[in-house]
Amino acid sequence: MKFLFAVLAIFVVALPCAWTKLELDAGPSFNVIDYGATGNGQTDDSQAFLKAWKDACNASYGTATLLIPKEKTFMLQPVLFRGPCKPPTVHIKLKGTIIAPNKIEAWKLPKSTRMAWIRFRHISGLVIRGGGWGLIDGQGSPWWNSYFNTEIKRPTALHFRECDYLFLSGLTHINSPKNHISINRCNNSLISKIHMIAPDESPNTDGIDISQSSNIVIKNSKMETGDDCIAINHGSTFISIIGVFCGPGHGISIGSLGKNGAHQTVEEIYVRNCTFNRTTNGARIKTWIGGQGYARKITFKDIILMEATNPVIIDQQYNPYDNVGGVRVSDVSYHNVRGTSSSMHAIKLHCDKSVGCTNIELKGINITTITGKKTYASCKNVKGVCSFCNPHVSCLSHKGSN
Ligand SMILES: *[C@@H]1O[C@H](CO)[C@@H](O)[C@H](O)[C@H]1NC(C)=O
Ligand SMILES: *[C@@H]1O[C@H](CO)[C@@H](O)[C@H](O)[C@H]1NC(C)=O
Ligand SMILES: *[C@@H]1O[C@H](CO)[C@@H](O)[C@H](O)[C@H]1NC(C)=O
Ligand SMILES: *[C@@H]1O[C@H](CO)[C@@H](O)[C@H](O)[C@H]1NC(C)=O
Ligand SMILES: *[C@@H]1O[C@H](CO)[C@@H](O)[C@H](O)[C@H]1NC(C)=O
Repeated sequence: MKFLFAVLAIFVVALPCAWTKLELDAGPSFNVIDYGATGNGQTDDSQAFLKAWKDACNASYGTATLLIPKEKTFMLQPVLFRGPCKPPTVHIKLKGTIIAPNKIEAWKLPKSTRMAWIRFRHISGLVIRGGGWGLIDGQGSPWWNSYFNTEIKRPTALHFRECDYLFLSGLTHINSPKNHISINRCNNSLISKIHMIAPDESPNTDGIDISQSSNIVIKNSKMETGDDCIAINHGSTFISIIGVFCGPGHGISIGSLGKNGAHQTVEEIYVRNCTFNRTTNGARIKTWIGGQGYARKITFKDIILMEATNPVIIDQQYNPYDNVGGVRVSDVSYHNVRGTSSSMHAIKLHCDKSVGCTNIELKGINITTITGKKTYASCKNVKGVCSFCNPHVSCLSHKGSN
């Protein structure tokens, strides 16, 4: 399996389809029912899951499988599945449904430590597959209603930390209290065929947040949530997002980077064949004024827009007054971005006076409004090239016709 990931990591930019089917060795299987899980949707099944996990993680040969059977609903309190594990691969076969407690008061965790519901930590070779059946329901609505109560920290549904060679596929994730998946300090991972659903108006229900991770591929997935479809944050490199359908939600976002003066970096991000349906942003890069670091080598290619509001946006927190510095944005390319914008202001390249944005390339852009009105672009402190751009981006130098 590690070999496959290595192949994937090398070819991902040039050859995103190099991924082949994951083959798992035979090994022992551990069914949560055999550990006392009821699967009645009411009883707390966390202890049974943890016992089954302990055995799977300590299995002595092959790929250990933790089985969560079909047609049952398992209610889990906040749980931590921890490695390192003995087998080179631990496979969680999630065919049933996992749900969170249905009321905030029912969560068995002190308020201060409610960071995430289901956590995976320090596991190499974790495979979670739903085969299209598996469902993870965060029962988020009571949490969304408490949005304005700052005492209540809303948890992430699924949190992966220090999980290298993570493989996640075939799952549906619904109604997280906050973001659906967060990935931190994980390298060499593949996420595919997942579907996320949360209401348009549910606050901060991002699809996937990535930080301090490298060589991550997210492909062939659909994210219909209330916030960013995918957010790529500090310390992320070599992230590929291919064939992702976003919307409703806020689109794909690099950052925000550099909040409160932080030094943060993101580079080598590759977004291809993605669709934005009625998202508030499409392809966005956002940095804070006064921050440090960079966002560079970022490509958005073959992007389809369906009534996106800010289809192409770089927001470096333009500041006309102070020379306080900012996160550098450079080597960004938007290539073949087509479709409709719900606003006439289709392209915003707003960079700060002190750092500016350099080597920004737009090529083959055609953004119109649904009503056929002409769109326009605006920019501040940007250097770069534009070829075949509708709308015309007057601040960039031009190649070809417009
Ligand atoms: C792991 O398995 C070994 C036998 O293979 C056993 O001796 C040990 O107690 C197990 N550890 C845990 C934590 O279950
Ligand atoms: C993950 O990748 C980063 C950046 O390439 C590297 O610094 C880090 O050591 C890697 N972590 C592991 C566990 O391989
Ligand atoms: C593009 O993405 C869509 C999903 O949005 C997928 O169905 C299609 O196969 C992808 N096409 C290519 C050429 O990757
Ligand atoms: C786009 O979003 C709208 C409104 O949410 C929805 O009705 C429509 O079916 C979506 N289009 C596609 C192709 O999914
Ligand atoms: C841009 O898109 C509009 C609307 O789909 C289409 O009519 C027009 O021909 C396109 N222009 C180019 C240069 O592709």
